[in-house]
Amino acid sequence: MKTAIIFGVTGQDGSYLTDLLIEKGYNVVGVARRSSVDTTERIGSQLQNNNFTLIEGDITDAFCVSDIINKHDPDEVYNLAAQSHVGTSFKQPTLTWDVTGGGCLNILEAIRLSPRKSEIKFYQASSSEMFGKNYSVREVHMGVSEALLGIDTEIQKFQDEDTPFIPQSPYAVAKLAAHHLAKIYRESYEMFTCNGILFNHESERRGENFVTRKITKYIATLKAAMEGERVDFSDVWELDEETLAWTPEGPQGHGETLYPKLRLGNLEAKRDWGHAKDYVRAMWLMLQQDDPDDFVVATGEAHSVKEFLEIAFRHVGVTDWSKYVFIDPEFFRPAEVDYLLGDATKAYNSLEWKPEIRFEQLVTGMMDGDLNEKLFRPHLQTVSDGCPEEG
Ligand code: NAP
Ligand code: GDD
Repeated sequence: MKTAIIFGVTGQDGSYLTDLLIEKGYNVVGVARRSSVDTTERIGSQLQNNNFTLIEGDITDAFCVSDIINKHDPDEVYNLAAQSHVGTSFKQPTLTWDVTGGGCLNILEAIRLSPRKSEIKFYQASSSEMFGKNYSVREVHMGVSEALLGIDTEIQKFQDEDTPFIPQSPYAVAKLAAHHLAKIYRESYEMFTCNGILFNHESERRGENFVTRKITKYIATLKAAMEGERVDFSDVWELDEETLAWTPEGPQGHGETLYPKLRLGNLEAKRDWGHAKDYVRAMWLMLQQDDPDDFVVATGEAHSVKEFLEIAFRHVGVTDWSKYVFIDPEFFRPAEVDYLLGDATKAYNSLEWKPEIRFEQLVTGMMDGDLNEKLFRPHLQTVSDGCPEEG
């Protein structure tokens, strides 16, 4: 039976990877940092599994990391632990550097110094965020309808393994340092290290301060609140620029109820969004190869935050979503990554990996996840983003 250690097991990807490896017959050792509250919600279903062990550890503590590697004799080590929020990395750059960059170095050193160095395969969670403002270009042939209009080709922007990195955030710089370290350790010490350059991937388990889940959680909560008040979306009365109000008795009526709008930043940014369940499969496949390498993992489609909003609101019957959304400058980042679209041809060919869940299905699946949770949260402002001062 193979043993895998997962750093960052309590996160979105950690939980899906745990499910996958348990299903494949692994003994999984999940590492979670100490917290004053329970952070095991996402891995709750595995806690009683005999093949799963949860241990305490923090990747910024080199001795602790080394102790974990030596004690558990892993065949595979997955580093998914990170301060993974780009907005937060501008507010907490030093912490981001220590966890997201330094944490990876601690694991690499622990493996290098281990007597089992040559038997351990290591996966590093690199990120499309490292491309930052950069992209490659190519000419693509258009479909029949465009050809009839005389448009044969268009220039497509994309990122693949050969696109140079121009990071735009402290998070991206820390990830890039870890990425290069994993390569250097591979080349210098003949270690089996793989970087998965993963584009954005989401799910029903996504953290609530990433834009996709922030949107789906808001819509589901607003809908539940309105149903509690027996108010339909179409009855909404817009009170002022920032606040929604509704009442069954009319705009000025008795018993008026106020509800906050969804506060968002840049709606024009485009991302290549896939589903986390598909992406953890690619992580595992990378470590099953004979030789270590780096791979882009992406769907090959880019969509804007606005498109995500449109599909999510449409799923509950709302076509004019603009009255529910307030553009808040606090959620704009000091530097933005405008466009990410990955070309995963290398992963398709070498790993025989393909995404199964496409954009629209991802959005509606996340909506259903939150609608079925039937959570009523009266104070949506507490669903913070890591950008404004309050959270
Ligand atoms: P996530 O949900 O934010 O999970 C991050 C995990 O890291 C959590 O388990 C967190 O623990 C843990 N962690 C944070 N600081 C730690 C520390 N000092 N010591 C040990 N563990 C620590 O992130 P994700 O979406 O699952 O992403 C997994 C990895 O892939 C991350 O490295 C992320 O940067 C990278 N990535 C993600 C995407 C994406 O779109 N999701 C794309 C490319 C790369 P707590 O539960 O205690 O917070
Ligand atoms: N979080 C957030 N909150 N983002 C917003 C908001 C908001 O209120 N409004 C607009 N956005 C925009 C951001 O400016 C960004 O352009 C886009 O929505 C996506 O933001 P996030 O969901 O926070 O993801 P990200 O792309 O910055 O980072 C994620 O993907 C990376 C891979 O490209 C994270 O998972 C990173 O850990 C990961 O490496």
